[in-house]
Amino acid sequence: ALGGRADDAGGDDPLAPFTMDDSSGYMTDDLGGQITDQDSLKVGPKGPTLLEDFIFRQKITHFDHERVPERAVHARGAGAHGTFTSYGDWSNITAASFLSAEGKKTPMYVRFSTVAGSRGSADTARDVHGFATRFYTDEGNFDIVGNNIPVFFIQDAIRFPDLIHSVKPSPDKEIPQAATAHDSAWDFFSSQPSALHTLFWAMAGFGIPRSFRHMDGFGIHAFRLVTDEGKSTLIKWHWKSKQGKASLVWEEAQIVSGKNADMHRQDLWDAIESGNGPEWELAIQVIDEEQARGFDFDYLDATKIIPEEYAPLQKLGVMKLDRNPTNYFAETEQIMFQPGHIVRGVDFTDDPLLQGRIFSYLDTQINRHGGPNFEQLPINRGRAPVHNNNRDGAGQMFIHKNTAAYSPNTLNKGYPQQATQKQGRGFFTAPDREVSGKLVRALSSTFDDHWTQPRLFYNSLTPVEQQFLVNAMRFEASQLKSEQVKKNVLTQLNRVSHDVASRVASALGMEAPAADPTYYHDNTTMGISITNATLPTV
Ligand code: HEM
Repeated sequence: ALGGRADDAGGDDPLAPFTMDDSSGYMTDDLGGQITDQDSLKVGPKGPTLLEDFIFRQKITHFDHERVPERAVHARGAGAHGTFTSYGDWSNITAASFLSAEGKKTPMYVRFSTVAGSRGSADTARDVHGFATRFYTDEGNFDIVGNNIPVFFIQDAIRFPDLIHSVKPSPDKEIPQAATAHDSAWDFFSSQPSALHTLFWAMAGFGIPRSFRHMDGFGIHAFRLVTDEGKSTLIKWHWKSKQGKASLVWEEAQIVSGKNADMHRQDLWDAIESGNGPEWELAIQVIDEEQARGFDFDYLDATKIIPEEYAPLQKLGVMKLDRNPTNYFAETEQIMFQPGHIVRGVDFTDDPLLQGRIFSYLDTQINRHGGPNFEQLPINRGRAPVHNNNRDGAGQMFIHKNTAAYSPNTLNKGYPQQATQKQGRGFFTAPDREVSGKLVRALSSTFDDHWTQPRLFYNSLTPVEQQFLVNAMRFEASQLKSEQVKKNVLTQLNRVSHDVASRVASALGMEAPAADPTYYHDNTTMGISITNATLPTV
């Protein structure tokens, strides 16, 4: 039957009550009246068609409204169901219930994506890839909305529209559809050097992964885990592919775009259908806050990684994807991930990119769904009971019986009650989070060094990988039309590495600027004195 509720949905597949089985029965209208729907109602067999033909109008109106707006970014994606299994009882670092016992299983849905292309674009366009994961925990939904690259292009969410306007197809021609070889993208990257670190990763092969199965995932921002006792720990989230990592080479990516533009979604689907569902281990880097304050860079800056030598990965559990969606629209298209979907035991940090994201996803999803009730869609509902005073709105699926839709009340005996931490179940913010300061419209100067980490990243590559990156830069930059943008690109590359700038310049028939030692205050430790660091463990 249709109409299961969050608090009575049960069984192995909680979406089952919402599935529609058309394998028997007669054709009906949307209300169940039996109909034939192949010919419109006409005045004689030659027409005209009558406006009173409600069967025609219902069918065509529904068709006319089949589409919802595609995602503003990450429109192209593929998803699957899976299960997370915790390796242990991690209550020493988090109250999150899905990490509370060894072997505890939590259902998941995952959506992989590219960023810039539209819903119908090719899978193998060079791009950052989305890695969005949802845990349907027994205390609400928890999403890690990450990418396959551990850093991001910008540091403050208010710049996101600028970034996206630069990488999306140009407003006049609507081309290129999903490519980075694009004057406006490279204009932005070279005018906004915070983009360089992510750009280097994207050019090094992470932009053209072999498949979704061969990517790692990163939560990117620092988050907090909080225990029941209120102790909070700074962490970064990682998903490590058990399939290993692999990328295409550019020539392959281009050929595949033509031969099978659906390669990545096909690969994921086929792997799951054949019983070889991919797996990733969930790991965290535990960051000692006191020491992190002493880094040369800011741990709240999403353009920086925290080196694993300092904070090694500690594995918490494993996710296996083992079930393909029944219906792409109902599941992969209608799932609404949000960095703001956190559960008891997880908390935010002041990272200004994260802070803005917490607002943006909810806002865009109200637009995508046409109202505030999208959390009631089968793929979005929590697996824990839902009780609150949110009411009405387009597409309201619940028939609320409580007429005292306010708190506090006595007419409904005070229900729903406020859940406090004291009762052991209530959501809470880390008690040691403290903020103070004067209002400024600026970024901290601790976010200023955009060149050291891309340089260290480049230096960490093998010569073959470096050549791969240089070739990608050459390909992209050689297609730029603006001489000014080409010059700006070389200026910024030169601040990262004179070697990269010279090699790219030679392909453009240009001269790289002279090496500029003021930018090369190299510290092979990324600003951390590793010898003095103690490794926090969980
Ligand atoms: C969608 C990742 C920064 C706005 C997505 C998705 C991913 C993602 C993976 C696709 C989710 C899905 O599959 O449904 C990231 C990461 C970021 C970042 C890792 C930085 C660390 C931002 C910022 C903003 C933003 C700064 C805005 C201020 C959006 C919007 C969507 C989206 C509007 C579409 C959501 C939807 O329609 O459901 N992002 N993003 N993102 N992102 Fe981000």
